Order: sequence, then C-alpha cells, then structure tokens
Amino acid sequence: MIVYFNGQMMPKDEVRISPEDRGFVFGDGVYEVIRVYAGKLFESDAHLKRLARSLRELRIGYDGVARLEGISHRLLVENGLEAEDAAVYIQITRGTAPRKHAFPPADTPPTVYVSAYAFDPPEKEWKKGVKIILVPDIRWTRCDIKTVALVPNVLAAQQAAEAGAKEAVFVRDGAVAEGAHTNFAAVFNGEVRTAPYSNLILPGTTRNVAIPLCRELGIPVLEFPILQHELKAADEAMIWGTTTEVMPVVQIDDWQVGDGTPGPITRRLQEAFAGRVSAL
Ligand SMILES: Cc1ncc(COP(=O)(O)O)c(C=O)c1O
Repeated sequence: MIVYFNGQMMPKDEVRISPEDRGFVFGDGVYEVIRVYAGKLFESDAHLKRLARSLRELRIGYDGVARLEGISHRLLVENGLEAEDAAVYIQITRGTAPRKHAFPPADTPPTVYVSAYAFDPPEKEWKKGVKIILVPDIRWTRCDIKTVALVPNVLAAQQAAEAGAKEAVFVRDGAVAEGAHTNFAAVFNGEVRTAPYSNLILPGTTRNVAIPLCRELGIPVLEFPILQHELKAADEAMIWGTTTEVMPVVQIDDWQVGDGTPGPITRRLQEAFAGRVSAL
C-alpha cells in the first residue's frame, strides 16, 4: 500500500512516526474521511473546507489543504483504486516536539498522513436497517472540531459493539446530539428532525447533503433538538455519515422504531442519496 507522508509517496510500512508526535502524545491533531465512488471523491470540497476549519480552530499551521485533493487522486491511482469503491483518510497533527502541553515552536512542521483504501459498502444494513444504543455524552464541548482525540467515541463504539449495535448515539442534557461517527435524525409525523448545528455536534458532510435533499423531495425537515423522551414516538430514525450514508435505524436500545423495518421517508432519502452519488 502506497501512502502519502510528510510530502512523499511511500510504502505504508516505511512510514516512521516519532513517539514525540503530538498526535501520539496528546491526540493533538485533526482528520477527515472522504468517500470514493468508482474512483471519484464525494463532497471533497466540503471535507477539505471542514478540515481547514478544524485546523484553524486548533491553531495548527498547515498550508497544504489545497493540495490534498490531488494527493488523494494520486493515491487512488498508485493503489489501483481509480475505478473502485474506496475511502481516503487524512490526518494532520501539530508535529513532533519534546512533550510539553503548550504549542511547540511556530516553525515545527505538522505531520501529514494520507491513505486510500478499498471500502466495502454495508449493502445489507442499508436494506435491513440497524440497531443503535443511546449513551451519555461524555465528550468535550467542541464536538464541531474533527479531532483525532476520540476516546469517548471509542468507548461508546465499543459499548455499541458489545450490545450488538451499529452505532452509539450520544445524549446530552436530555437531547440527542449525534452518533460516535454519524449524525442522527428521526421522523415525527412526516417531518425529519435532527439536532441543530452547534458546538455539540460535528457539521456532517452527509447531514449537509441530506437536509437539502429532503427539501428537494418536499419532505419537511427541521433542525431542532430531539429530546430523548420523544424518541419512542418517532415513526422512523436514521444515521447519516460518510461511510454510513443514509442508514435506517430500526431498533433503539431494546425497543423497535416504527414497525421495525426501514420507513418510507428513510427509503426515499436513501434513493435520492444514491441518485446524487450516481450523478458524480
Ligand atoms: C462525531 C461524528 N459525527 C458525525 C459524523 C458524520 O460526518 P460526515 O457525514 O461528514 O461523515 C462523523 C463522521 O465521522 C463523526 O465522527
């Protein structure tokens, strides 16, 4: 596998990251995952814009964001993925310096890593729907930054895996925030509802495709908090994410959503999303 590391294409096995890398020591870095359909990057502008914002918010100086799309294409070619279903992973940390919490000297170069890998779409789950669990949101209050410091998400995802669920969805102060790696939406009386954008959720690229798609389809959509106690009244639920796309949720904890099968609005949104992908 050929990857990009600090300015060079090289075999993945030859990448050497210092034990003093701030990503390793502090989780002091940001990342993005971009989906690739038949060799074409989906929503790359939105992902790279969000990456630039994450870097800005963490004050990590990296001037190469504009080059990352070209690097991603080259990696797809180098790895024989130019016509495949794949994903691109980008990670940038604050670089390598002796361990000290405050920033290293301003001339410390960031560590930049990009890889492209084949991706197997979760076709069966898209058809059947998945189970999620609700967990307390123990994360910090800058969930709008896509940082690699993901331990709360890791713990939540493990709890989901142990419960036989696809995703753990965080609840903060009685309101449903988002999943450990997805945004969450539910349908009440024909209206799609999802948490409003704030510092408590990631501005999901899939969310930013799905909301306008709802409007195009004439499906009412509201960015307004979903309270945990309202959830049992939801007719449908779904999670949205880059690798998850529009995924029906048919079970929450130990109860069924609607009749326990993917609902009609979720289906319409899935079809419209597929149409968007095939128009790439
Ligand atoms: C916490 C969290 N929320 C939401 C999302 C969905 O964002 P996107 O649609 O850009 O993949 C992700 C994606 O990884 C995430 O990690």
